[in-house]
Amino acid sequence: MKVSIAPSLLAADFARLADALAIAEAGGADLVHVDVMDGHFVPNLTIGPPVLRALRRATRLPLDVHLMIENPERTLSEYLDAGADWVSVHVEGTRHLQKCLAAIRRAGAKAGAALNPATPAPALAAAWADLDYAVVMSVNPGWGGQPFLSSSVEKVRELRSDAREAGARLAIEVDGGVNAENAGALALAGAEILVAGTAVYGDLDPAGAIARLRQAAMAPVQA
Ligand code: DX5
Ligand code: ZN
Repeated sequence: MKVSIAPSLLAADFARLADALAIAEAGGADLVHVDVMDGHFVPNLTIGPPVLRALRRATRLPLDVHLMIENPERTLSEYLDAGADWVSVHVEGTRHLQKCLAAIRRAGAKAGAALNPATPAPALAAAWADLDYAVVMSVNPGWGGQPFLSSSVEKVRELRSDAREAGARLAIEVDGGVNAENAGALALAGAEILVAGTAVYGDLDPAGAIARLRQAAMAPVQA
């Protein structure tokens, strides 16, 4: 199974986002992870549709947009119009998960649902058919650079087995505190997309860090 690496721009220099995209491309990243925070669902505020649109113009890599916002159904179309290729909404942030996922797919993007650490895996049970990917948050969303919550490995395993039982084909993404130490265990548990902010942009050699993450993720899978 191939493991995709998605560097998270949250850990990059926001005054140099074009450089951060060039680093992701040079390092062979598969996706670029864009963290959207609204100051309500999480206290922090980050990127909105205008910046996303500018990012879209600056790279050919697919943009994986993580909406940490309340009631995403109200503004979802703006992110889709701005050029998001993958969009995840939090199950805790909407009363209309199915509606959001259907709108994302209608726009031709991949539809994802994200789970906070305290939200159990069965929260996705009614959504299998509408999902292209599930996002297991391995930190409480809001900031980069937090320590990895090791219970996330078990949640990945549980989701992988639930999805298999349901006959659902979806990718599992893990987001928060991912690094070369935990990448192998995550891949082994069934994660196919690893988001990494600090482990990439906090490294002196960010392009090399992407390659090292991929290596770490593939090592136990190949063994
Ligand atoms: C956290 C964000 C993550 C974050 C990951 O709220 O959703 O995408 O950027 O950053 P690191 O890898 O530094 O934990
Ligand atoms: Zn994220």
